[in-house]
Amino acid sequence: MPATGHTVKVNLPLSPYSVRIAAGLIERVGAEVASVSTSRRVGVVTDSTVGPLYIDRVTSSLRSGGFEPIVATIPAGEAHKTLPTLLPVYDAFLNARFERSTPIIALGGGVVGDMTGFVAATILRGVPFIQIPMTLLAMVDASVGGKTGVDHAAGKNLIGAFHQPAIVLIDPDVLKSLPPRELRSGLAECIKHEIIRDEAGFAKLEANLDRILQLDITTVADLIAHNVQIKANVVAADPFENGERVHLNFGHTFGHAIETVSNFSYAHGEAIALGMTAACHAAVKLGMLTQIDKDRITRLISRAGLPIAGMKLDVDAVVDAMFFDKKVKDGKLRFVLPGRIGHVVIRDDLPRGLVAEAIHSLKG
Ligand SMILES: NC(=O)c1ccc[n+]([C@@H]2O[C@H](COP(=O)([O-])OP(=O)(O)OC[C@H]3O[C@@H](n4cnc5c(N)ncnc54)[C@H](O)[C@@H]3O)[C@@H](O)[C@H]2O)c1
Ligand SMILES: [Zn+2]
Repeated sequence: MPATGHTVKVNLPLSPYSVRIAAGLIERVGAEVASVSTSRRVGVVTDSTVGPLYIDRVTSSLRSGGFEPIVATIPAGEAHKTLPTLLPVYDAFLNARFERSTPIIALGGGVVGDMTGFVAATILRGVPFIQIPMTLLAMVDASVGGKTGVDHAAGKNLIGAFHQPAIVLIDPDVLKSLPPRELRSGLAECIKHEIIRDEAGFAKLEANLDRILQLDITTVADLIAHNVQIKANVVAADPFENGERVHLNFGHTFGHAIETVSNFSYAHGEAIALGMTAACHAAVKLGMLTQIDKDRITRLISRAGLPIAGMKLDVDAVVDAMFFDKKVKDGKLRFVLPGRIGHVVIRDDLPRGLVAEAIHSLKG
């Protein structure tokens, strides 16, 4: 195994799986897939941006591993994360007479991962699913945990299923072709993971941030492995989001509303950066978090090239959007707020005035 190699186990009781992280892994997909499947054929779903860059390397490695790949390419971008986009994918795989044992690989960011997972969950009532996440967000967040699905006009991710992958293959080298704004967006989720679970990890991220932004691959591989471990621990403790998995929503109650009201001009991670900042503001006002910890958090977010201020959106529009979120229970908004770096609590008793004030604080 190369020096940057890591394996993280996701210990789900019924369907444990491994997340392999190693530079150059994209060239060895065939051997890795052979470790979990004896099928001859294998489906691959990619998008119109990732496909031209990587599909040849993946299919030739699959062929060397004895597989016959059948590739379906979907248009890139969240706007295409809908059921109609998937119809030609089902056609391609059903016409090729896929069987219950034929695995389907997602080669792309979180959009391709969620959509491919949904195909794998539903085609023939479920076939094995393999993730090759290609964005930092997909590596540290979307590829682990088994949430799959598509958007609907009524909201994001409203149609979906839980379907865990058989294996997740991560090659940190592929981040070199990722637009820098997408890299920073993924870093927002890494910062989130440290705030909810790991003060020492937060300090390490503070120390390593510049090397990470320069894509020093050993440091980036460590970061990915550490973040996958955090997500794996949370998911293994609460596979269906009945309890502590909700901690992963830190920054997301504010952030989703900001993302929606901005009409997606904020990238997801940028909206989450503002959302984490607003959540910290509320936590300080409630006497839960020290100003020192809040400043440390916002300094790291800002150093990662993510916004903590300068928001131009209408505060009332953001507050209203928050109450429309699918996660609102009995009209009560649930917030995940930090008590300190590395520890969060769930609160559903925030007065609307404080919520509005926290959003207003982002305008400065
Ligand atoms: N399932 C989950 O638990 C979970 C968690 C978080 C987010 N998500 C979902 O993930 C999606 C967002 O994922 P994303 O941020 O990865 O967006 P994305 O999949 O749209 O990828 C962003 C862009 O980067 C391109 N790209 C991807 N990898 C590349 C590479 N290596 N080089 C060059 N270009 C590359 C893509 O083609 C796309 O244009 C959302 O739909 C969200 O709902 C799911
Ligand atoms: Zn997120």
